[in-house]
Amino acid sequence: MKILALCGSHRKGKNTSRMLQTVLREAASLGAETELVELTDYEIKECISCNKCLRRPECVITDDGMNVLYGKLLRADGIVIGSPVYFGNVSGRLKDFIDRSRPLHMVTNALDGKAGAAVVHAGLRNGGQEMALQILHYFMLSHGLQLVSDRRPGEAIVNVGTMATMFDSYDGIQMKFKRGVEEDAVALASCRSLGRNIVAFLKKKCCR
Ligand SMILES: Cc1cc2nc3c(=O)[nH]c(=O)nc-3n(C[C@H](O)[C@H](O)[C@H](O)COP(=O)(O)O)c2cc1C
Repeated sequence: MKILALCGSHRKGKNTSRMLQTVLREAASLGAETELVELTDYEIKECISCNKCLRRPECVITDDGMNVLYGKLLRADGIVIGSPVYFGNVSGRLKDFIDRSRPLHMVTNALDGKAGAAVVHAGLRNGGQEMALQILHYFMLSHGLQLVSDRRPGEAIVNVGTMATMFDSYDGIQMKFKRGVEEDAVALASCRSLGRNIVAFLKKKCCR
């Protein structure tokens, strides 16, 4: 069972990446083969909207990192995408990746049936996490991915959706912020649940 995590943060190894690492660590402890990809390590040119991929399942742009990423997506059984929240949306780099994934979708729907999950990290308490999550879920549903949630039967419902915040407290004048996602216990618990749920989903479905 292969689980691929894609980090859309423009800052490698930071909060979004560490959320994904938490998901993957949990999945790996249950036997999954995992890989974290930082999209910042790849050149991703923007989609030029030529629409050639409506007829052929390939992209006319071949001189950037997307060919490697297409291969990783195709080989994965489960795909987890993480984004920082930028103006209530996903990061620009991740949006370019999303647009360039179209050749996998229009003719063959090559990712259909894989497991999908998303995590987001924002600065504010209510900083657009839910919108960014919805955008990622919509993207995954467009590709036919089967969404896996962070919910665990029997656990307290403190959150729906794997989202984190830097916000710590507000004394009426000033906001205080966490030093990092490691101080967001709800988010990390959600990441761990997600890792377990993806493995459980894939075990039930097909994979070892
Ligand atoms: C261009 C930009 C836009 C941002 N927009 C928002 C926002 O709409 N809401 C929010 O809560 N935080 C916003 N932030 C803060 C980031 O979401 C926050 O720093 C995030 O946790 C960074 O994740 P990272 O540590 O993985 O880079 C923005 C940051 C940048 C750089």
